[in-house]
Amino acid sequence: MKVLNLFPLTVVQDEIFIEETERNELVTEISKMKNTHEEKKNSSYAWTGDTKGFEFLFSNKKFNSLASKISASLVKYLKLLEINTELLDIFYQRSWATYTNNEESINFHTHSQSNISFAYYLLKPNNSGGIIFKSNELQNEIAKNIFTNSKIEKSLINKPNAYNSDRSIFDLKQDSIIIFPSKTPHATAPNLSGSPRISISGDVSIMLKDSKGFEHLMPNFKNWTKI
Ligand SMILES: [Fe+2]
Repeated sequence: MKVLNLFPLTVVQDEIFIEETERNELVTEISKMKNTHEEKKNSSYAWTGDTKGFEFLFSNKKFNSLASKISASLVKYLKLLEINTELLDIFYQRSWATYTNNEESINFHTHSQSNISFAYYLLKPNNSGGIIFKSNELQNEIAKNIFTNSKIEKSLINKPNAYNSDRSIFDLKQDSIIIFPSKTPHATAPNLSGSPRISISGDVSIMLKDSKGFEHLMPNFKNWTKI
């Protein structure tokens, strides 16, 4: 029997290479940010710069070279979707670091104010936690909740696979970048490596250079009128 998969969620993985001196410099910079806003906490939630006043990381010149490499991967992703980037202005609207100590993680969330999101792994020891994607609309859910864990425990479902699962985990190596639609719910698995894990995340907005004749995509902010 032939399987025809329709309407996929497409997440892409790419590799970005930086010199170790650059990596060390960026890690030092991010550690400084974290140390100025470290909270005394009991929670197991990782430090995320976007909510600590460090949401414009790429305004920092030290991140220029990395940002341009990430830009190249983002354009490749848009081209994969057959989107004509010539007609678009593309902006990093936010960019920030996440710093995950041992046993910390990030709960499921979306970046609903954005179009495309990414995570680049600047520091990723083995076993420091993958990224988990979740779908709220299972295309193959032929009966409500037929694929939940309890159905596996009761042997109604033999085993989870790509056709019956509502989540998928990717535990990528250091220097990988993962790019995905911002509306996709995602989380991170706990860091169990005993060492810090640092990712650089960002939200990307796309808008038309010229919106003439288009109805749905965002018109260029240069033509907006402030109230
Ligand atoms: Fe996120």
